[in-house]
Amino acid sequence: MEEKLLAIKAAALAELGLAADPEAVKELRVKYLGKKSPMTEILRGMGKLSPEERPKIGQIVNLIKAELTAAMNAKGEELEEKALAAKLAEEKVDITLPGRAPVRGHLHPLTLTMREIKKIFMRMGFDVMEGPEIENDYYNFEALNLPKDHPARDMQDTFYITEEYLLRTQTSPIQARTMQAREPNTPIRMIAPGTVYRCDYDATHSPMFHQVEGLVIDKNISLADLKGTLELFLKEMFGSSVKVRLRPSFFPFTEPSAEVDISCVICGGKGCRVCKNSGWLEILGSGMVHPNVLTMSGYDPSQMTGFAFGMGVERIAMLKYGIDDLRLFFENDLRFLKQFN
Ligand code: DAH
Repeated sequence: MEEKLLAIKAAALAELGLAADPEAVKELRVKYLGKKSPMTEILRGMGKLSPEERPKIGQIVNLIKAELTAAMNAKGEELEEKALAAKLAEEKVDITLPGRAPVRGHLHPLTLTMREIKKIFMRMGFDVMEGPEIENDYYNFEALNLPKDHPARDMQDTFYITEEYLLRTQTSPIQARTMQAREPNTPIRMIAPGTVYRCDYDATHSPMFHQVEGLVIDKNISLADLKGTLELFLKEMFGSSVKVRLRPSFFPFTEPSAEVDISCVICGGKGCRVCKNSGWLEILGSGMVHPNVLTMSGYDPSQMTGFAFGMGVERIAMLKYGIDDLRLFFENDLRFLKQFN
């Protein structure tokens, strides 16, 4: 009996020696000291022992129990400490590591271009006006001298919401909106930047793009004012060496109308792929405000004259930055956008 008990003790201590974590010690405690342990079995069978043997075996069992309990407590504590130390080491924060800087965005190249255009005109004393992107047929076409059956409407195929409402095809409707918001014949000097929409999609056209409209009305405004103003703007935008020319054109809301070209910013006017060997780049549309447009919005063309212009912001940004596909602006590819930081 005594040997059996000593064997149990030896086995328990050997297993305890191998325990690698507090959990294993807990399991050994159940195995060797719990209700179903061999030691409890022996205690239960004590009745069968002789009266002389009983106290002896009882004493040995109590001794072994005390010894094992002490050994397990000690081992348990040691392993708990180790586990804690390992956890602390693992979770240690190195306060000397440099922090992670948040990624900082920047303005979109079109926003930068738009801001630059606005800045130049604001310096010349222009107001900045806005109008709705969902426009009605009257402001988008009729008030610009484009009645319902006018063939020039075909040049601006758009997205209709109802018979009457559509996504504006141009920022020109803000001309009539501005005139009608002022007392008749008050001088105007404004630009109107904004988003416009057309049914187009290729390397130089997007169904959504941006324009800046301009309108100047006063007494004695002439074609010379138009040319001087736009020349100043284009030299600020593309550099003072740029040459500017007016080319006869047609717009229903201006008479006469002119397309404004600049000398090619890529080749300097010698002729290249971008300017199709002409040395010139078409940059915006303009003209003297048609008397019908003035009359329809309450201005008197016998007293007041004016000029107007409209430019595409994407086109200006493409020429300024040398971008060959307009769709890049809207694909949100950071490799492209990051270059305009
Ligand atoms: N609205 C014209 C377009 O989208 C551009 C334009 C041309 C505007 C001549 C004007 C202008 O104000 O006078 O094609």
